[in-house]
Amino acid sequence: FETLALSGRTVFITAGPTREALDPVRYISNHSSGKMGYALAEAARDAGARVKLITGPVSIAAPERVECIRVESAQQMLDASLTGLSGCDLFIAAAAVADYRPVSIAEHKIKKGSEEIMELHLVKNPDIVATVAAAEDRPYTVGFAAETRDVVSYAQNKLARKKLDLIVANDVSAPGIGFNSDENAVTLVGPDSIETLPQTHKQQLARQLINRIARHFNEYAKT
Ligand code: C5P
Repeated sequence: FETLALSGRTVFITAGPTREALDPVRYISNHSSGKMGYALAEAARDAGARVKLITGPVSIAAPERVECIRVESAQQMLDASLTGLSGCDLFIAAAAVADYRPVSIAEHKIKKGSEEIMELHLVKNPDIVATVAAAEDRPYTVGFAAETRDVVSYAQNKLARKKLDLIVANDVSAPGIGFNSDENAVTLVGPDSIETLPQTHKQQLARQLINRIARHFNEYAKT
């Protein structure tokens, strides 16, 4: 039978937004749809991998034959990412993790006061993909970078700073692609490679990306 590019490999993928609770009924979040991460999970599964999809709250259905771990906060996404990490060969961080969370979660619903201005105190969330990349016996680690300018140079900086193996960079200032849209166009940036994948549907792009990522990963796994 045909050997697929990721046969016998375990792939963890983070997807969707995180929700950072303020009180029992409110949260801070973003408009990430999860489409790119879910499409990558299906493409990795179709390439023969065992896939664990760690997902924030999204409205799309869980892919078949993929282990789906549902989380809300960045901290929960980190915990789920570190669980079983020693068995993970390839980690792809496609989630739009909230950079900050409220310093504390109020036990009861926060009441409206008489003051016009209300201050929220936020604290930085852990960087999930950088934590994974710094782990002992780390998987091959792939991050995403959404930029509005100088896409490649910011991606190269991010690659070095977070100690990643590859970055999928997209220009979110371009209309009709990226965040919450059905299409995307990306540049795959490695330590000594730059490859542009032109605009297409996220499903199609995910298959192309998994092919390229698997090629880089298999090169790395050989050494
Ligand atoms: O630093 P920035 O948010 O631009 O980095 C984006 C990449 O880092 C994405 O792969 C995203 O999933 C990941 N990330 C993460 N944890 C965070 C912030 C970003 O895993 N707290």
